[in-house]
Amino acid sequence: MTNRRTFLRSTTQALVSSFMAFNMSAEVVAQNQIAPLTLNNKVDWEQVRDLFILSKKKTYFNTGTIGVSPKSVLDMVYEQMLKVETTGEYGKIHGVRSQIASFVKVLDSEICLTSNTTSGINIVAQGIRFKRGDEIIITNQEHVGNALPWLQTAKVKGLKVKVLALAPTAEEILHNLQKLFSHKTKVVAVPHITCTTGQVLPIKEIATLAHKQGILLFVDGAHGPGMLSLNLTDLGCDFYAAACHKWMLGPKGTGFLYVNQKQQENLIPCFVGSGFGGDWSVTNKEGYLGKFIDSAERYEYGTQNTALWLGVAEAVRFMNELGRENIEKRIKDLSEYLKLHLLDIQQDKIDLLTPGESGSWAGIQTFRLKNISHDDFAEKAMSQNIRVRKVNESNLNAIRISTHIYNSYGEIDQLITLIKACSMIR
Ligand SMILES: Cc1ncc(COP(=O)(O)O)c(C=O)c1O
Repeated sequence: MTNRRTFLRSTTQALVSSFMAFNMSAEVVAQNQIAPLTLNNKVDWEQVRDLFILSKKKTYFNTGTIGVSPKSVLDMVYEQMLKVETTGEYGKIHGVRSQIASFVKVLDSEICLTSNTTSGINIVAQGIRFKRGDEIIITNQEHVGNALPWLQTAKVKGLKVKVLALAPTAEEILHNLQKLFSHKTKVVAVPHITCTTGQVLPIKEIATLAHKQGILLFVDGAHGPGMLSLNLTDLGCDFYAAACHKWMLGPKGTGFLYVNQKQQENLIPCFVGSGFGGDWSVTNKEGYLGKFIDSAERYEYGTQNTALWLGVAEAVRFMNELGRENIEKRIKDLSEYLKLHLLDIQQDKIDLLTPGESGSWAGIQTFRLKNISHDDFAEKAMSQNIRVRKVNESNLNAIRISTHIYNSYGEIDQLITLIKACSMIR
């Protein structure tokens, strides 16, 4: 009863607050408290599920591509769009930067707002001061969004790309990586969590190895924030590009780039405009461009969509209120439940591709069934309204399952039943 009452109160307050949002800036959103969904720090996940408009007929296991937003995020975006369209006033987004910064535990001045992970990757790949012949290391399991910016930069600037073969353990990965280092290595550009098997790479250790040799570390963090409770300062990378529209449950078309303060003078802003913040002039005989502001905002340019950014602020508030550790635990608990069931299936029927080493997996499990192609399995799943992601990258031809807080053990049981039935196909 108490839970139900708490829930009703929180939903009502969420609705009231979303109407109030009409006149809100991001700073105000940050202070907007709805009643906790938690009781004695135990979250009622069924009640949390009701805060999403995701159809209950759909079993959605594709957060790795796009996370679905809670209703309060949609309300915030809608109300803010109304505000802009009815008043013509554009509003402010500055409070969002500091909310994201504290979400990933870095300085406000180290966050650049972007539209997705790939834009952050491009800003770094194009902004590093390379010289011809320098070497870049990427992995053999990249998403196109991390492969292409580096391959293109290498082509244009005459660089060499070396490919790190990932392995099931952190020790092997670090060993393989060190073998690729040379005095020409300029940057290591690896995913935090691969899009293929969801493997979590040992970023902190990679940072230590790279920095010992004076090598920069760029991390493709598409899947990091929201899946893991991150501390980027502690991870020790130089750059980290991420999306707010996946595991952070924010509006689509939002992301951020972390640029360590020490690297901001070295990373050339290739796209410039309103984020520049310094002196410039075209009124004298010659144009003048002064010094960039002392912040990663220098990599931003042009008009942004205030409504989307206030939606990100609401997504961050929503996650903080549920508790970052609670969310990470729920994501991992569901993933582990799936993993244990997959391990239970006879080995001649299935390959579980996600490594099992502690710390190397979190919210993604990837598998391949031996008796059915990944195309056919995905089609069968879709016919039961179960959305999975096919992994074609690196010719894995596998199925990827992402688990988030709107998923349930019952949904995983439904998936396992399908997997077992398909694994029996001759
Ligand atoms: C590892 C990885 N990197 C980059 C991307 C591209 O992300 P975005 O669409 O936010 O640019 C993805 C998308 O799924 C991904 O999984």
